[in-house]
Amino acid sequence: MDYSKEPDQKIFSLIEQEVTRQQQGLILIPSENYASLSVIRAMGTPLSNKYSEGYPGKRYYSGNKFIDQIEELAIERAKKLFGFDHANVQPHSGSTANQAVILALLKPGDKILSLDLNHGGHLSHGSRLNFTGKFYNIASYGVEKDTEQLNYDHLEMIAKKEMPQLIISGSTSYPKQFDFDRVGQIAKTVGAFHLADIGHVAGLAVAGKHYPCQSADIVTTTTHKTLRGPRGAIILCQQELAEQIDRAVFPGVQGGPLENIIAAKAVCFLEARQPEFKIYAQQILDNALALAKSLTENDLRLVSGGTDTHLVLVDVRPLGIDGQKATLALENSGIYANKNVIPFETGTPFKPSGVRLGTPALTTRGMKEKEMEKIGSWISQLLHQSDDLTLQKKIKEEATELTNLFPVYGAPRASLPKAGKRVVPLGDTAFGGGT
Ligand SMILES: Cc1ncc(COP(=O)(O)O)c(C=O)c1O
Repeated sequence: MDYSKEPDQKIFSLIEQEVTRQQQGLILIPSENYASLSVIRAMGTPLSNKYSEGYPGKRYYSGNKFIDQIEELAIERAKKLFGFDHANVQPHSGSTANQAVILALLKPGDKILSLDLNHGGHLSHGSRLNFTGKFYNIASYGVEKDTEQLNYDHLEMIAKKEMPQLIISGSTSYPKQFDFDRVGQIAKTVGAFHLADIGHVAGLAVAGKHYPCQSADIVTTTTHKTLRGPRGAIILCQQELAEQIDRAVFPGVQGGPLENIIAAKAVCFLEARQPEFKIYAQQILDNALALAKSLTENDLRLVSGGTDTHLVLVDVRPLGIDGQKATLALENSGIYANKNVIPFETGTPFKPSGVRLGTPALTTRGMKEKEMEKIGSWISQLLHQSDDLTLQKKIKEEATELTNLFPVYGAPRASLPKAGKRVVPLGDTAFGGGT
């Protein structure tokens, strides 16, 4: 990407530096990924100039002939990819999608049963700091103390006691698969709606590498995590709830949709239907297992006993540090992770006890088990010796060398890969030309 001819060099030189950081860093934040250049190109189009409040065929402004076709294509592709009757592709973000669902289904004061924030729930599922926690009655479920895993019989008992109007499944940091069908059965038993928020695992789900979610009344998902599309979200449901959902998105919580982003969502849905995407999703899982193995063999404790998804959660308390210190030590070596609360947290949200690591972004770059083994060993050394600046510098050099072998969006100009070393499994469609 060459921004050198842009007139606003103040902003474009910062953009260039950020792109270089993404290229030279080891991105292990599980909610981040590298969208393809096609997705990025769709986002950067004059579609952004257009106002299109409403829905295809029912807009409040003129001039939506092509926009309607784009949004319809995105809707059709989303329905086909996820197996639902109806898709709303307008939500600007995962939080807004959840907000719209709650507005559509509940009255203020109704009860929501969702995963506790410390156990992996998302803010928009009922945190007291979020609108959900302020306007709705929140009950929560969590993992068992000994296994740090969900016990669905226990969840059923809580549901029967609390009798919520809505049960939310899905998580932001639970490393094991969510059994969406089982939660759906529990919701039916107590007469509640079931919202499956599959934001983190959507890419795995559409590739058939995760428990299915089609039994949920409503599914929300971000489009930018394992699904590898633009930042944004969608809502899926069957026909009975379609009108309610559409009205809740617009005019309920949003105004004009971002049609450039909707076009990019359509591109990502097409990419996710390709056979290569299944291979990608499987490699995410293989890499997460390899990373978990390496971390465990290098004396780190993994929450929930490991992973069967794209992410792992490391408990850093045995090392005498907190997640804040841990992520800083990693960042000094160009390894990006995020500090995270863990179940039965004893720290604070700013200094929690965990570090969350995921493999979607590095898998997009073409890294495999061998690289995960090496990265796991680096992470362990950095966390065990988090004050060792010489070690941080040494690993940063080694990490940069590794990232140079796996270019994305074309390598940074100062560090082109050596000939013959390039490994980009998803081909040039994923990166629009590599180097
Ligand atoms: C499960 C889940 N739902 C919703 C969201 C919110 O998405 P956004 O940041 O797009 O609002 C996230 C983001 O981390 C998430 O992990």
